[in-house]
Amino acid sequence: MCGIIGYVGKLSAKNEILAGLKMLEYRGYDSAGICCFEKGELKLIKKKGKVDTLIEVCKDKLKDVHCGIGHTRWATHGDPSDKNAHPFLSENNNVCIVHNGIIENFETLKGNLQKQGVRFRSETDSEVIAQLLQKSKCESELKKVQELSNMLVGSYAIAILFKGLENQIFAIRKNSPLIVGKSKDGYYLSSDVNALVDKTTEYHIMEEDEIVWIDNEDCYAFNKNLQAKEITYLPMNLSKQDISRGTFEHYMLKEIMQVPMAIKMTINECESIINPYNKLPKDLIRDVKHLTIIGCGTAFNAGMTAEHYARERDIIVECVYASEYRYRKFLSQENELCIFISQSGETADTIEALKIAKEHQIPTIVITNVSTSTINKLADYVIPTKAGPEIAVASTKAYNAQITALYNLMDYIYCVKNKINCRTCILKDKLYDVVNKLENYNFDKIDELSQLILENERVFFIGRGVDYATSQEASLKLKEISNIHSESLYAGELKHGTLALIDENTVVIVIATQKHLFDKTMNSIYEIKARGAKVVLVTQFDVQTDAIDMLISIPTTDQAIMAEISIYPMQMLAYKTAVLKGLDPDKPRNLAKSVTVE
Ligand code: F6R
Repeated sequence: MCGIIGYVGKLSAKNEILAGLKMLEYRGYDSAGICCFEKGELKLIKKKGKVDTLIEVCKDKLKDVHCGIGHTRWATHGDPSDKNAHPFLSENNNVCIVHNGIIENFETLKGNLQKQGVRFRSETDSEVIAQLLQKSKCESELKKVQELSNMLVGSYAIAILFKGLENQIFAIRKNSPLIVGKSKDGYYLSSDVNALVDKTTEYHIMEEDEIVWIDNEDCYAFNKNLQAKEITYLPMNLSKQDISRGTFEHYMLKEIMQVPMAIKMTINECESIINPYNKLPKDLIRDVKHLTIIGCGTAFNAGMTAEHYARERDIIVECVYASEYRYRKFLSQENELCIFISQSGETADTIEALKIAKEHQIPTIVITNVSTSTINKLADYVIPTKAGPEIAVASTKAYNAQITALYNLMDYIYCVKNKINCRTCILKDKLYDVVNKLENYNFDKIDELSQLILENERVFFIGRGVDYATSQEASLKLKEISNIHSESLYAGELKHGTLALIDENTVVIVIATQKHLFDKTMNSIYEIKARGAKVVLVTQFDVQTDAIDMLISIPTTDQAIMAEISIYPMQMLAYKTAVLKGLDPDKPRNLAKSVTVE
């Protein structure tokens, strides 16, 4: 949520910052802005809308600048508008800031400043940062930044320019990511590594409460007490190809096509010598009595899929949304293990939920796709998914990678508990077969189904058991990128209320991959058909009945892992429906990737 970029060096700061903002745009696209030192003055340009609008406005401006900061916004406080766009200048135009996160005590701070006569120009929480720095009486800019970090409550990654200190950028972070990139042509600041690919050879992930001071020559880091710290740089191991769209029209399409690769790479990880499962202490796993899986959105849905898989192996799992786990009454359970799932590893609710588990001394495992993420540093054990960078806002390949990792983890727990030798991935052959089938999957009916959805008023996804988890994920995908109202529910629950909404303008997509539940699900289909809805069945079984308007056939595998397959046409359905509606699937309305605010 919100992307920050900064540059100081030999190259054109304008070009570097605007290119960085394009790469960070998936974190928010309500407005964008840039501020650079131009002839000693802080020159600010910002505009409501996407980064391309800003690029257009900047065309003949900021020609010879070598230091600046930029921002692409996902609105939290204040509507998307020019005045609420970042960067923010202080009242006297001597300080400029960009901010990602939420300043929870901004109303108090703002009230105090207003009493001192400071006039604000925006409705945001962020502007208070610039005004506080302007008002500071500290003798050095570094001390002003330190004082600021002591005053702010909430989450923040902040980059700051001070008039008079040309070609210098200050930065701080707490609960929001910020990275320093190093190259022969200068230094960069960025909210994520992706924006630094091809620009830098090394990067440093700023730690909590770290203060950084960058100039033309070097980068200096300090702790909260302003003691100098040594900076650890990591080699940049991503290539431009990893993060580019290539020949695909959208990132989401590229990432759907990479689902088989994401599964394969995640299996290979546990086959390698760095097998992450082997790092889990055997006695811990053997004694586990209660598994809690925690995540948000798609990551939570992956957890629900695994819950069924675990149950079949006599492992009790409870899935909880991170935003609920944080605030519900904590009850201690004997030998509990918490598993956190997060593609980005930066989701604020998931990170806070993990901190709570740690406070209660519960061992924590994180399943994540970004090895450098905040959550990795906090968790006791890490199981990586190997989906590669996921740029589209709607998660697809990471979901399949997450359920692959969860299947492996549940198998591992089952084996340890039952004293079965389990050195490699038990599902390896079956999952490779799934990979092969997905690589050859034909999406030929999906255009027709997208059309059907657009001709109707509402969509329901239903399923029983693990197919309900898939329905949840399919429904989330469709609604988030096509803005079509869709709901998912347990097939058996329809007649307890929702059937009242079923009419001839409704499409019901039924996911039925579990043999022992198939006849029961067919009963639901007849009930729906009797109310005039269009019924679409997603299944690997051969079915002959007039009750179905469209059959989406999927390849078969062990029914325990059918969720890897059944979601695949549904991911494409969401994509195609958005495109058919003329929407940009990579930038869904009101959403952004990496939800770093609560
Ligand atoms: C939906 C989607 C979101 C994320 C959720 C958690 O397509 O992408 O629901 O799954 O915001 O994000 P991570 O996995 O990064 O914690």
